[in-house]
Amino acid sequence: MLRVENLSKEFRNGRGRSAKTVHAVKDLSFQCKPGEIYGLLGPNGAGKTTTLRCLSTLIKPTSGNVVIDKYNVLEHGQIFRSKIAFLTSDMKLDGYFTPDYMMNWFGKLNKMQDDEIEQRKKKLFIDLQMTDFIHKKIDQLSTGMKQKTAVAISLIHDPEVIIFDEPTNGLDIVTSKAVTDFLVDRAQSGKIVIISTHNMTIAEKLCHRFGILVEGELREEGTLSEIIEGSNWDNLEDVFFSYIMPGGDHV
Ligand SMILES: Nc1ncnc2c1ncn2[C@@H]1O[C@H](COP(=O)(O)OP(=O)(O)OP(=O)(O)O)[C@@H](O)[C@H]1O
Ligand SMILES: [Mg+2]
Repeated sequence: MLRVENLSKEFRNGRGRSAKTVHAVKDLSFQCKPGEIYGLLGPNGAGKTTTLRCLSTLIKPTSGNVVIDKYNVLEHGQIFRSKIAFLTSDMKLDGYFTPDYMMNWFGKLNKMQDDEIEQRKKKLFIDLQMTDFIHKKIDQLSTGMKQKTAVAISLIHDPEVIIFDEPTNGLDIVTSKAVTDFLVDRAQSGKIVIISTHNMTIAEKLCHRFGILVEGELREEGTLSEIIEGSNWDNLEDVFFSYIMPGGDHV
């Protein structure tokens, strides 16, 4: 079980008198259990990436905590990291190397044995349909191929928790489906999956539960039917609009 407990993150922008505090995430709490795909939705600037970066130990929360089983992000950063895969759209891969080489490198970084790395690579390359390009330089790969490579690298150590920030951003529908099918498969094998997305169709199809984040606050949470039942709308997109444009007359 992953628990986000009263998580807040503030950024201080600028210096001196003109400095401003941005409350990117405000008192956010939610849970995600093994086998579940949780979708964090929200407009630009809502605090999704900030939340996911706190969950992934990349930035320290201003207050609150994140707990996986008996470990928490504040006290057990290293163990916590070993349990997590984090993927973000601004992940830069060194173009000179090949996916195969990068997988070996990250496998060793995660203290994996050679045979373990080979097994993991084999599975991930097949599952993500990468076998045609694993020996090409990353510079020569398409956006979708690079994204698949980033997905594979993030998962080399077979983590319990998969945290992907907009995993299908910029991908064609075939590559997007390969990535989402893969996430479904991982969840079915008992992993915890948390994603952020702007794509409501993907969210509806993929996620078991949702959190709608607006201005750093969780305004709505639940399964699709729970969210729809508590609203005047019959689909996720309309419920979403009702939170980001309250009082608006969207149809
Ligand atoms: N490193 C930072 N320093 C200062 N402010 C930041 C930093 N990172 C994020 N912010 C601010 O925090 C708020 C939330 O940003 P965040 O990137 O989490 O939003 P988001 O929901 O991921 O948006 P998007 O859909 O555009 O990716 C924004 O106001 C942003 O400007
Ligand atoms: Mg973001």
